[in-house]
Amino acid sequence: MCGIVGAVAQRDVVPILLEGLKRLEYRGYDSAGVAVLGGAADGGARSTLCRLRSTGRVAELEKLSRAEALAGRIGIAHTRWATHGVPSEKNAHPHVSGGVSVVHNGIIENHDELRARLRAKGYQFASDTDTEVIAHLIHSNLHSGTSLFDAVRASTAQLVGAYAIAVVSDGEPSRFVAARHGAPLLLGLGEGENFAASDASALVQVTSRMIYLEDGDCAEVALGSVRIIDAKGAAVERPVHASQLSAAAVELGPYRHYMEKEIHEQPMAVANTLEMVSGAQSVSAQLFGAEAERILGEVDSVLILACGTSYHAGMVARYWIEGVAGIPCNVEIASEYRYRASVPNPKALVVTVSQSGETADTLAALQHAKQLGQRYSLCICNVPESALLRASELRFLTRAGPEIGVASTKAFTTQLAVLVLLTMTLAKVRGRLSREREGELLLSLRHLPTALQNVLHIEPQVKMWAEKFAQHQHALFLGRGIHYPIAMEGALKLKEISYIHAEAYAAGELKHGPLALVDKHMPVVAIAPKDALFEKLKSNLQEVRARGGELHVFADQDTRMTGGDGIQVIRMPDHAGLLSPILHTIPLQLLAYHAALDRGNDVDKPRNLAKSVTVE
Ligand code: G6P
Repeated sequence: MCGIVGAVAQRDVVPILLEGLKRLEYRGYDSAGVAVLGGAADGGARSTLCRLRSTGRVAELEKLSRAEALAGRIGIAHTRWATHGVPSEKNAHPHVSGGVSVVHNGIIENHDELRARLRAKGYQFASDTDTEVIAHLIHSNLHSGTSLFDAVRASTAQLVGAYAIAVVSDGEPSRFVAARHGAPLLLGLGEGENFAASDASALVQVTSRMIYLEDGDCAEVALGSVRIIDAKGAAVERPVHASQLSAAAVELGPYRHYMEKEIHEQPMAVANTLEMVSGAQSVSAQLFGAEAERILGEVDSVLILACGTSYHAGMVARYWIEGVAGIPCNVEIASEYRYRASVPNPKALVVTVSQSGETADTLAALQHAKQLGQRYSLCICNVPESALLRASELRFLTRAGPEIGVASTKAFTTQLAVLVLLTMTLAKVRGRLSREREGELLLSLRHLPTALQNVLHIEPQVKMWAEKFAQHQHALFLGRGIHYPIAMEGALKLKEISYIHAEAYAAGELKHGPLALVDKHMPVVAIAPKDALFEKLKSNLQEVRARGGELHVFADQDTRMTGGDGIQVIRMPDHAGLLSPILHTIPLQLLAYHAALDRGNDVDKPRNLAKSVTVE
């Protein structure tokens, strides 16, 4: 989704801004722009506001800025993911009003009302965006003698909605202003130069010292200093964090795509995430935070809130938590829960699951739960210092490393690994986990990275199936029990990146509708582990065969299932019992990846999708 970079330095900041935008490309965008106070190749010493924007890739913007010899010592830049107004040059950020220029992430809800007021004052609008309102508003508050900082604060006080903004003004060529409410923004501290960005990865090439702004903060960023005022107007010092993110972690290495890299990184990502229990004989509630022992003992149920792939992780966890820990578990799509009149249970543990920790709906769902009096919260997330982690009482940071591909892969399997630990801990606190069972499960978790590596070896077989899938327009995914959410995740992966219409069904539901769609043109994927439902699933598969449907079955080694007329089988190397859904995810990711490649799609940046959905 939208990305922001800002910089003030004694050198030309254009390369820093453009590199920052490139590192934010993974979030998904449709246009990009940059504004600097400087001008042509004069080293950026002048303070004329110069702006360049383009639709398409950052590389286009880079070409343009080279052609125009853009240079400056202070500037802001943006990748836009269209919400208000189509993707076009005129709607791309930065937006300007006189000598003021603004980039913005989020949505301003009262933009119509503000636009009408500004029009009445004589402001003319050149775009269809809500952001242009902010530019004119700041300009209108920039009376003589008012600093840009004060004008931004006066303006943000009138905004309703979510925003992270960075603002430059030709009246103040040595400082820019950054402010946030409901959308993430951080400052990067350099030596005699300072930066701002919506995501730490944008600044990895210039600094590792970061300040995460809090909601309502407004910061003035100058060459050798930053000044922050909080929501109440008080001057505040925010802690400086040393970012662990290395430039190498976000580089492609020998892989063609980030998705390919991230699929193959899963054994390591899971091993890193489980490091804290790798040598342990038992699980401890402390894994989830200092207060976890008490809180997990007090809760009587679990409510999981998440979106997209993370929601599927929650759905898998429900089978584990109810089946092993024996306490009720509900799983809700965050965007539904936040607007539903639900019956709150103050003794429920509210678990948010999120790769980014900044998904607007998940964050709002957590806030909604808190407003309803649900006081116990746990966040499972892959991004340190993210808004969701900070808003939660208990937390577990998955250690998947940066996930760049829009389609989530290693974040999902690491979330599942943590949800197994949560299940074990909840069961243990309730006296439902014998020492023997605990030992067995820890052993399986320790074996998990190797088991994942073994599954990756079936890639050549999956690739052959993908060639055929790439020629179809539709596909059906079937699973039962705990593998039903895995079927959903397989269908989601396929549609996200290959644009093949895919649906998942609990195999027992087949006869209640989707069988009508099955014929020889409908490839059907079945997830067939050797579990208690295997025989039932086999009957469902017969129903498909009887209608001419082509079956593609991922079966466990010990099912002894073999291929035949209209049935193709790939045998999974390991049978993982409780952890089986984690292993069965891998071939479905590979199927989607190779089908998308065969169709010539941009695997890492699928159309219309964003990595972090920071708007509602
Ligand atoms: C977007 C991403 C998905 C992700 C979902 C939830 O749709 O493209 O890959 O699953 O957001 O994101 P989160 O960061 O909260 O896990």
